[in-house]
Amino acid sequence: MSGFRDRILSTLAGQLGNPHGILGKGVAGFLNRGNRRAIEGAVEAAAVTPGATVADIGFGGGAGLALLLAGVGAAGAVHGIEPSADMLARAESRFARDLDAGRLLLSAGSLTGLPLADDSLDAAITVNTFYFVPDLAAACAELARVVRSGGRAVVGIGDPDAMAKMPFTAYGFTLRPVPEVIAALEQAGCAVEHRPLENRPIPHHLLIARPG
Ligand SMILES: C[S@@+](CC[C@H](N)C(=O)[O-])C[C@H]1O[C@@H](n2cnc3c(N)ncnc32)[C@H](O)[C@@H]1O
Repeated sequence: MSGFRDRILSTLAGQLGNPHGILGKGVAGFLNRGNRRAIEGAVEAAAVTPGATVADIGFGGGAGLALLLAGVGAAGAVHGIEPSADMLARAESRFARDLDAGRLLLSAGSLTGLPLADDSLDAAITVNTFYFVPDLAAACAELARVVRSGGRAVVGIGDPDAMAKMPFTAYGFTLRPVPEVIAALEQAGCAVEHRPLENRPIPHHLLIARPG
């Protein structure tokens, strides 16, 4: 029985860190519903304006892409960056019109190696992705590199104590104390505002990093 439970939890954790295959389709919808409030909070904290160039890094099911596209309007641009080929393919189909219009640009990539030029973004969001990044300093340095001075990189993470109570997080998630993530963003040259976000069953933390 415990071997079976292990397999279920490790499959779920693996899908959350890399949604793929037939299960990945269900996981994408689950992410869009379950993370809705955290994603909306991150988009709001990013203070996206019409005409801006922004990104959602590790966009999963794509709920953040839709909100960012609405925020930047017809004159803006949204970069969607994801390591999962299946999530990229799903976004290509779901947002075909925005891709054709050149308002959405999708690329394979990781937080630790963003396919974006220095200072190319007004804002970026990345929600529930940091658990899957072993090199925290590299991810923070990349965010600080691609977001222009005065722009905003919003990192959304679940409260680590609440996350630790979720049985699947024992299978490969890195749960860092919030002060550790703030310190890493500051080390990368950002001023950081911490905005707690009420959310059930997992309260979240929005870290609004502004590169200097
Ligand atoms: C739990 S899902 C969150 C998806 C979406 N941001 C949300 O909040 O619903 C984690 C996402 O991070 C992506 N991911 C995993 N490792 C990553 C990395 N190193 N860089 C960027 N994204 C990553 C996964 O492919 C997956 O889509």
